[in-house]
Amino acid sequence: MTKKTAIVTGITGQDGSYLSELLLQSNYTVIACRRRSSTNNLERVTHLLDDPNFILTEFDLTDPSGVYQTIQKYQPDEFYNLAAQSHVGTSFKQPSTTFEINTVGVTNILEGIRHYSPHTKLYQASTSEMFGRNYSTETDGKRYQNEKTEMLPQSPYGIAKLAAHNMVEIYRSGYNLFACCGILFNHESPRRGENFVTQKIVKWIKDYIASGKSPDFPKLKLGNLAAHRDWGHAKDYVRAMWMMLQQETPKDYVIATGETHSVQEFLDLAFKSVQLNPEDHVEIDPDLFRPAEVEYLCGDPTFANNDLGWNPQVSFKGLIQDMLES
Ligand code: NAP
Ligand code: GDD
Repeated sequence: MTKKTAIVTGITGQDGSYLSELLLQSNYTVIACRRRSSTNNLERVTHLLDDPNFILTEFDLTDPSGVYQTIQKYQPDEFYNLAAQSHVGTSFKQPSTTFEINTVGVTNILEGIRHYSPHTKLYQASTSEMFGRNYSTETDGKRYQNEKTEMLPQSPYGIAKLAAHNMVEIYRSGYNLFACCGILFNHESPRRGENFVTQKIVKWIKDYIASGKSPDFPKLKLGNLAAHRDWGHAKDYVRAMWMMLQQETPKDYVIATGETHSVQEFLDLAFKSVQLNPEDHVEIDPDLFRPAEVEYLCGDPTFANNDLGWNPQVSFKGLIQDMLES
């Protein structure tokens, strides 16, 4: 395989770490972008730091000149933009920062590629959160979202991501860039951030067991348990990102498992697998409910199945097991 260069943003996050691994295994040089931090936040990529093909670079998406300089310097074959303010709940508390990073930041990348490296193929991390409260319906009544479903976002995060998604489309059609968006549904892993609901549940279970099941151990506080999500494994989803940039033409794809489960179901299964009963340990906290909620997500990945040949390998139960056992 010929050697390629890829810029990856968000390498300190869940997806950035898995994608970097995949690219290094595929003979890429990875320009690994991270923003300055006063503490060490490289835990997820510690095992990659000695690889000479993993080149750490300081980079903040919101600083246009830095973004342009990085693109001009490396003129990469591929650019994967995974950096974002990625927490939906936080986006209600920090809407402007969310917009600055998730929309203006993406525009900085598009401008950088347009002016300094127009051959670069861009992957933008779009999201099922853009569908918001909308879904399509099959004749048998099954509800789903696919590439044709209209988007009605319900959070500052969803709106910012949709604006970026539309911006990518403008640069693709207007400037003929190879730029595409993966509309990824929720994906988790042992490397998932601790303030997303799956990892919050799993972490509580591990800490509770580590405490010797202390009767004084604080309860697990959760918000809306009725929301449904289509949860897959991050390792499967970063493979789809890479596949999208290996195509002849840039297209947007829904990446999902096609199955949906409630937060309550995730909670019950995780607790049951370690012989615990959530009713004994969970407290509902009204402060954890969002001002607006996305109640139902269930992706239809038919287009990605047929056009990319992509299929998820890890089941819902397999995902929970992997997170609990890691
Ligand atoms: P994550 O773990 O929260 O990682 C986000 C990354 O973005 C972190 O490395 C973070 O750096 C970086 N970042 C934030 N602001 C930045 C800035 N101004 N400049 C440079 N880097 C910045 O997110 P993830 O789960 O890996 O998700 C990756 C991408 O996919 C995100 O764009 C997310 O919105 C999108 N997405 C995720 C899912 C999912 O279910 N995981 C689904 C659909 C779409 P710090 O470590 O410094 O904070
Ligand atoms: N975070 C969190 N914490 N969510 C909770 C809690 C809690 O204590 N209790 C209930 N929930 C509910 C949320 O209200 C939401 O309905 C669901 O659990 C999932 O929340 P998150 O795990 O925070 O994920 P998300 O669906 O809001 O967003 C994730 O998926 C998007 C794709 O649909 C993030 O990864 C986004 O970056 C991503 O775009």
